[in-house]
Amino acid sequence: MHEDTPALDPGLDLFAGIDRLRRDLNAVILAHYYQEPDLQDIADHVGDSLALSRRAAETDAEVIVFAGVHFMAETAKILNPDKQVLLPDLEAGCSLADGCPPDEFATFLAKHPGHKVISYINCSAETKAMSDVICTSSNALHIVESFPSDQPLVFAPDRYLGSYVARRLGRELVLWPGSCEVHEMFSERKLVELKTDHPAAVVAAHPECPEAILQHADHVGSTAAILRFARETDAEQIIVVTESGILHQMAKECPDKQLIPAPGADETCNCNECPYMKMNTLEKLYLCMRDRTPEIVVAPDLAARALAPIERMLELSR
Ligand code: 13P
Ligand code: SF4
Repeated sequence: MHEDTPALDPGLDLFAGIDRLRRDLNAVILAHYYQEPDLQDIADHVGDSLALSRRAAETDAEVIVFAGVHFMAETAKILNPDKQVLLPDLEAGCSLADGCPPDEFATFLAKHPGHKVISYINCSAETKAMSDVICTSSNALHIVESFPSDQPLVFAPDRYLGSYVARRLGRELVLWPGSCEVHEMFSERKLVELKTDHPAAVVAAHPECPEAILQHADHVGSTAAILRFARETDAEQIIVVTESGILHQMAKECPDKQLIPAPGADETCNCNECPYMKMNTLEKLYLCMRDRTPEIVVAPDLAARALAPIERMLELSR
């Protein structure tokens, strides 16, 4: 149990307790693929960032409980200003969102007049409010392509996703220099060693990885696209280069395939685990529903400005 989690009756059946609270609150529980297995299993919907945004936009539930990180729950709140949105641990942040402070981003944008601004959903409401359209790793190519080829574009805050899109589309993008601290840590040397040890394996990687990693991938895509690839490939061994939480759904959907998680560069840490995603636990999920806190709050004027580029993304990726 996390050290700041209040003690709970050890006899409490958390699964049954969460189920009861879900009914009592008329709540929907949304979980990202990077959440620990118990949280994925108790959720009403498990998905990638785009699918979960769609679920949040469409839900009839009165309360949205987000087993994910802050920017995801904040996006759900922006889409649902009149609903209560709960996040099991308010400290569950993201290095991409934290690495793009709004005041510095405003200064950066002022240096690029005439540019339209595409921001990856992994950013704060303030950064979203300064953007023309939001994207996720599922639709980034499509969103960039929706602008005329002579339209200058800023892409923020993930320089690796941005440079992947730029390479794929042969298009120049002005990149904000942010990164995901998890995907940046994969080791090219270890990935090449894994491929040598498993010559029949295919490699599936997330586009938040640097180019040095992606050049070894047979498939590059969002978490949902990696899952689809794992289901559809004829290969029996898959080297997975993204956060290890995805392995839970992969193992469920592809029980006959050997899933080989790519390791991070540092032998001494679980570098392929997102420390923010892993702040959420079943205990904290139960407590946030029981106590109806921590709750996401977004100032109404900021929410209104951040909503327009999110809605544009949802319209463009119908
Ligand atoms: P997707 O959910 O778009 O695959 O992104 C992964 C991620 O890092 C979420 O924080
Ligand atoms: Fe942010 Fe990376 Fe964690 Fe996703 S995996 S929440 S991008 S730090």
